[in-house]
Amino acid sequence: MTFPVSKMHKDSTLLALILALLIVIPNTLGVSRGQLRVGFYSKTCPNAESIIHKVVQKAVSNNPRNAAILLRLHFHDCFVEGCDGSILIRNDVDGELKAKGNLGVLGFNIIESAKAQLENICPGIVSCADIVALAARDAVSLVKGPFYDIPTGRKDGRLSKMSLAGRLPDVDDSISVLKSKFREKGLSDKDLVLLSGAHTIGVTACFFMRNRLYNFTTGGSSDPAINRRILPRLKAKCPINGDVNVRIPLDWSTQNVFDVQILRNIRDGNAVIASDARLYDDKNTKQILDSYISSAGSGTRPSFNADFAKAMVNMGNIGVKTGSKGEIRRLCNAVN
Ligand code: HEM
Repeated sequence: MTFPVSKMHKDSTLLALILALLIVIPNTLGVSRGQLRVGFYSKTCPNAESIIHKVVQKAVSNNPRNAAILLRLHFHDCFVEGCDGSILIRNDVDGELKAKGNLGVLGFNIIESAKAQLENICPGIVSCADIVALAARDAVSLVKGPFYDIPTGRKDGRLSKMSLAGRLPDVDDSISVLKSKFREKGLSDKDLVLLSGAHTIGVTACFFMRNRLYNFTTGGSSDPAINRRILPRLKAKCPINGDVNVRIPLDWSTQNVFDVQILRNIRDGNAVIASDARLYDDKNTKQILDSYISSAGSGTRPSFNADFAKAMVNMGNIGVKTGSKGEIRRLCNAVN
C-alpha cells in the first residue's frame, strides 16, 4: 500500500521539478541570450551614460534632426548582424553601409565624438554598439519621447559586409514581408507597429517615394492608400522628374516632436512612406495601431510611449554579442 503513495509523492515532486524547470529555463535563456544589464558600466566607467547624453544633447540642440538620425542608426545597426556597431565600420569597400537599404544612414560623427571622449576617460571599456543604443535612447527623450532604461554590455562585431544587409526592411515591402523580416529578428507584429512609430520624427528623401507616387501599380498610378487630399501635396514636393534627394517630413504635423500623431496619420491615409501605410493593410497590425489612438478614455488606452520604449529594448537585444564573441573597438569606424 505504501508503494503507490510514495510513488505518487515522487511523481508529484518530479512534476513540480519539471514545471519549475519549464518556468526557469526560458527565463534563464532570456537573460543569458543578451547577458546585458542596465548600468553595465556603473563601476567600470560610471560617467559613460552621462557623457553620451551630453554629446547627444549638444548634437540635437545644434540640429533637431540629429535625434531622428540617431534613432534610425540604431535600427540599421541592429537589423544587420545584430546590434554590434557593424554599421559604423567604414573602411571596407563592400561594408554593410554600402547596401542600398542603408542609403541615407547618418550620425557617425556624433557616435565617434562620444567614443573619443569615452576613450579618454576609460579606454577600451565602452563598446560602440552600446554608444549607438544609448544615443538612440537619449535622442528620443530629447524630442519629448520616453526616457527608459536600456540594458548594456554589447560587444562590437568584427564583420561588416554589404551582402549581409539583404534582409533589411524595404520601404516597398508588403505587410507580410515586413512582418516576416521583423519575426526573423525575434520581433513581433506589435514591435513592428511601435517601432514604425519612430517615423514620428525625421524625414525621407523623395527617392523612397518614387514607387509609391508614380509606379505603385503596373499601370503607373499611385498607392490608393494615400489620402486623395494629400496626394497633390506629396507629388508637388516630389515631382516625377524632380530631385530625388529633396527631403520631406515623415510626420507632416510634428516633424521634430516624438508623439503618437504618426499613427493617426497612418489611419487617415496621411502616411508618407509606403511601409508605414502597409501597417493598415493587415488585420492584426491595424488592430494594434488602432489601440494606441482609440477614442476610448486615455485610462484604457495602452501608452504608445511606454510600449515604444519596450519595443526599443526588444530591438536592442537583436543578436547581441557578449563575452568573447566581440571586441571593444578603439575607433568605431574600424575593427581593432
Ligand atoms: C518597418 C520597416 C522600416 C522601413 C521600410 C523604413 C524606411 C525608412 C525610410 C525609407 C526612411 C527615409 C530615409 C532617408 O531618406 O534617408 C526612414 C527614415 C527613418 N526611419 Fe525608418 N524604416 C523602418 C523602420 C524603422 C525603425 C524600426 C526605426 C527606429 C526604431 C526607424 C527610424 C527612422 C527614422 C527616425 C527616420 C528619419 C531619419 C532622418 O530624418 O534622417 N525606421 N525609414
